[in-house]
Amino acid sequence: MTPAVAEVVTSNESKTASIQAHVDRAIEDLLATLPNTAQLSAEQRRGILARYTAVLEGNFIYWMTGAYISVGSDEARAKIMDNLREEVRDCHPGMMRRFAVAAQAVPTDADAQAVYRNLTNVRLFIGRLSAVPTVVTMAFFEGFIQRFMPFLADLARRQGSTEMEYTDVHGVCDVTHTQELFRALEAEIALAPPIPAKEMFEGVELLQALIQNIVNN
Ligand SMILES: [Fe+2]
Repeated sequence: MTPAVAEVVTSNESKTASIQAHVDRAIEDLLATLPNTAQLSAEQRRGILARYTAVLEGNFIYWMTGAYISVGSDEARAKIMDNLREEVRDCHPGMMRRFAVAAQAVPTDADAQAVYRNLTNVRLFIGRLSAVPTVVTMAFFEGFIQRFMPFLADLARRQGSTEMEYTDVHGVCDVTHTQELFRALEAEIALAPPIPAKEMFEGVELLQALIQNIVNN
């Protein structure tokens, strides 16, 4: 590696590290806003589960497909394809639906309406097919949901459910997976022109707003 190339690689590594730190903070901030499940009414519990289902069941594979179309590096493509394969092969939308049915929290028209605007914002953001901000958003979401699963499982249990396959599968903290995701991000940064911070975290902010909408309506 020539000194100039080595310098670019190091600067992409430190850029990735600072993005990861920002993403980690965004996750902690969001987790800190979760309500105490013991203080929620049955209708509040049902609402959170139903709005979460209204968003995730039909959109997660769309988001990942958008990410796949956006990226240009082999590292990122391979990582996203692994994720898509698992989503389809193990039928995660079906798992999500079983989870909602068992918790008596199948989304109604009103639940879908409650998240409509924030969900549309995330959909349109993904539709821009902007590689780096999309991969940053994915990293945020994956980091968040594994930490969110105990909360979701607790709500379902309080609804009388014992169907926990969805939260078990998504609650696994996979360190290798996260490392690979940030390596994929590094590869995408190397391909892209410099991106302003506002644009870098736009998807993270839209997703944060959507999750807050799910939880606090
Ligand atoms: Fe999934």
